[in-house]
Parts: sequence; structure tokens; C-alpha cells
Amino acid sequence: MPDSADITEVEEPDPADGSVLVEGVLLGICGTDVEIAAGDFGSGRRGAERMVLGHESLGRVLTAPPKSGFVPGDLVAGVVRRPDPEPCPACARGDWDFCRNGRYTERGIKEADGYGAQQWRVDPYFAVKVPPELGRLGVLTEPASILTKAWDQVDQVGARSWFEPEHVLVTGAGPIGLLAALIAQQRGYVVHVLDRATDGPKPQLVEDLGGEYLTDLKDLDVVPDVVIEATGNGQLVLDCAGLLGPGGIMCLTGISPGTEPIEAPMDPLTRQLVVRNAAIVGSVNAGKRHYAQAIDVLAAADAHWLDRLITRTVPLTKWPEALQKGPADIKVVVDLQS
Ligand code: BGC
Repeated sequence: MPDSADITEVEEPDPADGSVLVEGVLLGICGTDVEIAAGDFGSGRRGAERMVLGHESLGRVLTAPPKSGFVPGDLVAGVVRRPDPEPCPACARGDWDFCRNGRYTERGIKEADGYGAQQWRVDPYFAVKVPPELGRLGVLTEPASILTKAWDQVDQVGARSWFEPEHVLVTGAGPIGLLAALIAQQRGYVVHVLDRATDGPKPQLVEDLGGEYLTDLKDLDVVPDVVIEATGNGQLVLDCAGLLGPGGIMCLTGISPGTEPIEAPMDPLTRQLVVRNAAIVGSVNAGKRHYAQAIDVLAAADAHWLDRLITRTVPLTKWPEALQKGPADIKVVVDLQS
């Protein structure tokens, strides 16, 4: 429903959500939350009037059963998606991010309450331990899992032949783009990041990764081996597709609400993609192993650099303010205990 963001009292967390009881610490807000709050996307539990929002979680375990792998005090992040009940063959093998029948649920997004609460429950299987050294940076686990999955797809497509990427182009320097760039840098690739912003923290963040920051695609003077697209902008997707060299791979991670038609010279582009064995692959959500990889990526990163991605912390009492992204904002988080 439009303008439905609010703060209300809800029932105690439902034991059906899982045996681990967690105190919510932080909640990351992203474009999906903005769309849900505006009534453009998402759906609550069947029969429920409201949905607890939030899928980028960080909490502290309050109680956990023996042998759950968790003890009170552990920092934890919850997995977003749950397999469909059937389950489809992909969900049956744990690949819920590749669900075939669309009947999966997602905490805080689709037919399940999210993690934006002072207490929540989770099944230990759908929870990942966040090392204490990461502290508040653990709230970046879920967004980072989106990119470890994207890179996994790039690797799997790349494995079709010899594949040693050198230049990586990332389009969009929001949290998703910057985490994509971080992984590229950790892998030793040469990183190029395109974004519209000419000021604010983005150019320096890219520079501090040792990357090149661009505001115009025309200024890119290399052929990217990999493009991680994080804007969802149709024209940009098209332009980047045309840049792909032999064996090039573009992974699409963003969605844009735009409806403007664009003109696409599909015949020459198709010819180019075919003769170059170029690949374009979409990527959504993440499997369990991608969360574990996300923790590794965050733990290996410079904590000060990561900390600069969190540009604003909003107290729970004022949380709808977190839905308004300022020009200098990258990741806005809600402090669930204040
Ligand atoms: C979340 C994904 C989710 C997708 C679609 C994204 O914001 O990060 O986990 O699958 O929205 O609902």
C-alpha cells in the first residue's frame, strides 16, 4: 500500500519462523524496501494486514537450542529466501535462488515477515554467523551475498572456455555496485566503475579500491572482460552489451522501474554477441553458500572502507526516514534498538 511505512507493536516472533531467537541490531534499507513501502512490490503473509519489512539483517542471538550452531551473543544475519513448499527441483537441492515455480517466499519481501523488528526468529539453517570483528558491518552480509552469487555466475559461465578476466566494468556505484567492485579488486582485476555522481563519497571510494571512476561510458578506454551491471537502466545495459569483447560476460543485477521504450539495433548487436560468444546473465537473490562467501569478502575487506558505505543510521523510532535516500547516501541502516 502506498505510504504504508509505520512503526507498530506486533506479536512476539512466531516460533514457526525458527528456533533461534534474535535481538534485531541493524536493518539495511535498499531500493526493494522503498518499492514495497510505496506499494509497488512485495506482499505480506497470507491473510495478514501488514508485513514486517526488512531483509538486510543483523541481529544478536538471544536464545538458541543446543546443537543449532549458535549460542547467545552470536552476531547473525538471516537468509532472505525460503524454498517453495513443493519443492521444485531447484529448491529441493538448495538452489532456492533458482526457484522454478515462483512459489518461494522471501523474508520482508514476499509472503513472509522480515527482520525489521526488535526481535525475530530464524531457523538455524537459514542463518549465518557474523564474526564479531565485523560488528555493524555484518549488516552488509545480504547485499554482499547478491554479488558473491553474481560473481559465481560469471565464474560458471567463464568456465566454458579459457577465462582470465583483466578488466571489470561495474555500472552503478550504489551499495551493490561498490560491493561488486570490492570483489573484483579482491580478485586482482582492474576495476572501472561508472556512476552519474560527480561529487559525494563515491569517486573516492572507488579510487581507494585502486579503481577508475567514470561518469561517462565513452571515457572507458579498455574492453571489459566482465561487466557487473547494477543500475538496471535499459539504455546502459544495451550500451554495455555492445562493449563486450570475445568471451565477454555481463551479469545483470539491477532492475529499473522505467517504462520508456528504447531503440535497440538488435540485428548488429546480435551478430556481435554471437560471433564473440558474449554472454549476458541475470542474477537475483543468493544461495546459502553465497552468504558464507559474503562473510569472507567482508572479513577480507578494509573495515574503514566498508564502514564508509554506511552513510546514515536512522533510529527505529524514525525509521521511515531511511526510505528517503539523500544524494550522498550509499547504504542507510536502521538502528533497531534506539
Ligand atoms: C533482495 C533479494 C531478493 C530480490 C527480489 C532484493 O532486494 O536483495 O534477496 O530476491 O530483492 O525480491
